[in-house]
Amino acid sequence: MPPQRDRVPAPRVPSIIVHGGAGADPVEGRDELRAGVRVAVLEGWRVLAGGGSALGAVERAVRALEDHPRFNAGRGSVLTSAGTVETDASIMEGDRLQCGAVAAVSRIANPVTLARRVMEASRHILLVGEGALAFARAQGLPECDPEALVTERQRVRHRELVAATKGTVGAVALDRHGTIAAATSTGGLAGKLPGRVGDSALIGCGTYAESSTGGVSCTGDGEAIIRVVLARRALDYLQQADDADYAARVAVDLLVEEGRGHGGLILLDWRGRTGWAHSTPLMPVALMSAAFTEPRVPF
Ligand code: GLY
Repeated sequence: MPPQRDRVPAPRVPSIIVHGGAGADPVEGRDELRAGVRVAVLEGWRVLAGGGSALGAVERAVRALEDHPRFNAGRGSVLTSAGTVETDASIMEGDRLQCGAVAAVSRIANPVTLARRVMEASRHILLVGEGALAFARAQGLPECDPEALVTERQRVRHRELVAATKGTVGAVALDRHGTIAAATSTGGLAGKLPGRVGDSALIGCGTYAESSTGGVSCTGDGEAIIRVVLARRALDYLQQADDADYAARVAVDLLVEEGRGHGGLILLDWRGRTGWAHSTPLMPVALMSAAFTEPRVPF
């Protein structure tokens, strides 16, 4: 059934929520994470406040997090078992269920922008590896030296075999026309096999948006998230309960109990109400809306 768009007339109150990944609490590094998600939510907010689209807002917010070396996406991504960076990203616009994604991509500093190009300039949804890179070249997107994405922090963690780093990033936004968009980007799982693809590249698992219901971006154990198709399931809970916080909590319970993994998610409903939940010690979150004077960074 196509999404129902006539429940409430536009205009809506624009809102955006971002996350910096579910994982361990670094305690001393909290301020840096707080500042990072705050900047990202403001970047996305500027797009919405200027009358721009939810799609533009989530792309802008996720790009800011990909550029920040402290998050596991773009520059700062964790390394594969071969010591390389391979990123996954996806983006979705919830009016017409348009979506695009890339997986196992190296040499691209902002995979979320490549995912958007796949959505808007190809007839496909998911491109991987060398094919995604060839498409990026054809689109004139800048390519970078793969070493430019590797930070000293991740090199050290790789040497020390830190296995379960999380820190995927994501954003969900509602614009004044009532359109919801969501995006997710990640370096994946530390020490993963080259070629491994996680939930962040898979529509319905790491990312989903349906303007009549809401949008979701997930973070955490990719295999567990895929097992329960977490993003779509979270929207099903939202549809049933009409309560964003409750839907987020029930979805994370599903991730833990049936997915047999840990992580979290952010959620924004069709009225601009936000919800988030995580089973890990920490998940940096920031939100901004026309109803606030300042971004909220509630962690
Ligand atoms: N959730 C990110 C990943 O597992 O790849």
